[in-house]
Amino acid sequence: MLNKEITEQKFAHFSEFLFRHTGIVLGENKSYLVRSRLSALMHQFQFDDINALISSVISQQSAEITHAAIDVMTTNETLWFRDNYPFDILKRTILPSLSDVGRPIKIWSAACSSGQEPYSIAMTFSEYCEQSLSQRMNMDIVASDLSTTMIEKCNAGVYDELSLSRGGLTPQRRNQFFDIQNDGQSIVKPELKRLIKFQVHNLNDTHLVTNKYDVIFCRNVLIYFSPEVKEKILQHFAASLNKGGILFLGASESIGTANAYFNLIRCEKGLYYKLKD
Ligand SMILES: C[S@@+](CC[C@H](N)C(=O)[O-])C[C@H]1O[C@@H](n2cnc3c(N)ncnc32)[C@H](O)[C@@H]1O
Repeated sequence: MLNKEITEQKFAHFSEFLFRHTGIVLGENKSYLVRSRLSALMHQFQFDDINALISSVISQQSAEITHAAIDVMTTNETLWFRDNYPFDILKRTILPSLSDVGRPIKIWSAACSSGQEPYSIAMTFSEYCEQSLSQRMNMDIVASDLSTTMIEKCNAGVYDELSLSRGGLTPQRRNQFFDIQNDGQSIVKPELKRLIKFQVHNLNDTHLVTNKYDVIFCRNVLIYFSPEVKEKILQHFAASLNKGGILFLGASESIGTANAYFNLIRCEKGLYYKLKD
């Protein structure tokens, strides 16, 4: 008989573990969420008691089990050109303002999930270069996520019909930036992929020195963190941006107490943040 009932104590220990490792806060009544996500791993790792699986995750005896548990606890929902306006602002305002920097433009897509965000940034850049006939501009995109599975998916750059249909991929963009494989799935073209370096990175590890960026996208992830962790991460972003650097958050997210570092810029279609001088 499989036991999928999590004891209160195990739930408390798991919540504490997840918070310490990722910054993700589980609400008190989220035991059902842990149960539904972790029970999928019981068969894979041959546990018949979910509490024993949780003990194994917390003890970190097996990196594979711990990573798999963290992976299933993250929410990876994403879309091509999600919310549109960040890519519009990038094309119309930010790229023109950086056209004379004389070095590659540096962009960080932090918490990039399965790659739709960084690939949308790369497509935006490519379209901008075509429209403005700019041969000289170059872009380096770093795209990171906590989940190894997501980073593997990003690196593969292979998407099925369903995921291609979600968001703002026009038929023209599909033609221009993807090749269709024999199995019917589509793969991102190498010229787009070469703009992006994918890496596993935990946003909670703010002690790690990062590069300096012109623009950081960190969208639809800060909502999972406590106010303290969120402020720590935003402070880290401020230190990782070049002078006048830009930060995009998710459409329903706000900067909260980190407004000491950023000015809010409102424009017709949405808002973004600019590093204070
Ligand atoms: C909802 S997705 C957002 C993807 C994309 N930014 C967007 O807006 O479409 C959230 C992503 O954050 C990642 N994530 C969660 N906690 C993280 C952490 N501590 N460090 C880095 N990434 C994290 C998850 O793995 C997931 O892929």
